[in-house]
Amino acid sequence: MEATLSTFFSINTDSLMDNTQATFDVYTLVDTDPAKAKPEDYVVYAKAPYQWTHRELTDLVRIGVEQLFVQESQRAAYARYVALKEVRKLHVDESLEPRFRIRQIQDVASHLVEACMLTPMDEVIVEKLGDVAQGMVKCLELDPRAIVNIQTLGEYSLYTYIHCAGVSAITPAIAMQMGERDHDKLVQLALAGLMHDIGKKHVPGSVLNKSGPLSPEEWRQMRAHPELGVREIEGLGFSKMVMESVGLHHEKLDGSGYPNGLTAADLPDFVQIVTVADIFSALTTSRCYHFKRNRYEALMFMKQELQGKISKEAFRCLVESLVIDPSEKREA
Ligand SMILES: [Fe+2]
Ligand SMILES: [Fe+2]
Repeated sequence: MEATLSTFFSINTDSLMDNTQATFDVYTLVDTDPAKAKPEDYVVYAKAPYQWTHRELTDLVRIGVEQLFVQESQRAAYARYVALKEVRKLHVDESLEPRFRIRQIQDVASHLVEACMLTPMDEVIVEKLGDVAQGMVKCLELDPRAIVNIQTLGEYSLYTYIHCAGVSAITPAIAMQMGERDHDKLVQLALAGLMHDIGKKHVPGSVLNKSGPLSPEEWRQMRAHPELGVREIEGLGFSKMVMESVGLHHEKLDGSGYPNGLTAADLPDFVQIVTVADIFSALTTSRCYHFKRNRYEALMFMKQELQGKISKEAFRCLVESLVIDPSEKREA
């Protein structure tokens, strides 16, 4: 009977949507208590690929079917479907001022990064990533100061997604401060920010979410994420700029980074921008207030501890793009 519980899991009927192809089979239980159901009690209701109609969904709700079931082996397909639903649902209100709109875009971006991490990437996701990167850059082009409004605090499980969404705003903001005005280049930088940690999808959750220090073996797994990331998105049509940012964002100018210990001469300028944005976002994005540095503290840390390791120019432009308010020093 234990096997029954792990074979199927329940989903809410209202998590299904019309006009989107479901890539998982949906089952129903007839006159059986889910707690006592055996695998043979589940009856296929809709075999994948299935295009639900609005009518079917409202009928199900009308007759009181609130719960349906999916096989455990198709959990990833369902997770991706739900994540994409969130992306579709989160409407970006174009009439909002950029400084408010950027929060909405970041929200969409973090759900999208979640979809990328949970499931295989394909052209649908790649296209949506491009849309989000465009939205982010448009916002910054209208108001570079919008960057100060990005979200930096995440729920435990959303940390990585919020971080990537943050880096995708900070990277083009720094580049703009450095004088970059080429819209397409800025969009590529935003995409690089979204994708930079994609390799973490292959790092065990026990390592990613560990609160204590990592063992040497765990470090080895963590340090593999840039190379795993490059492998993950190879062949999906991403630009050289995005690919190099994914593979090189943990390298440092003095050769102390990983995976290859490259030095300044081997690191393109745009990668150095991603690195600065990544470090700043990691320092200021946290799972709880206790570990979070405020922006002032993060910049002071970078200035004191990372001299010679990160691009001076990108760092200066990061500071300028934030124009720190002195009152922030008093923040917890
Ligand atoms: Fe990383
Ligand atoms: Fe990162």
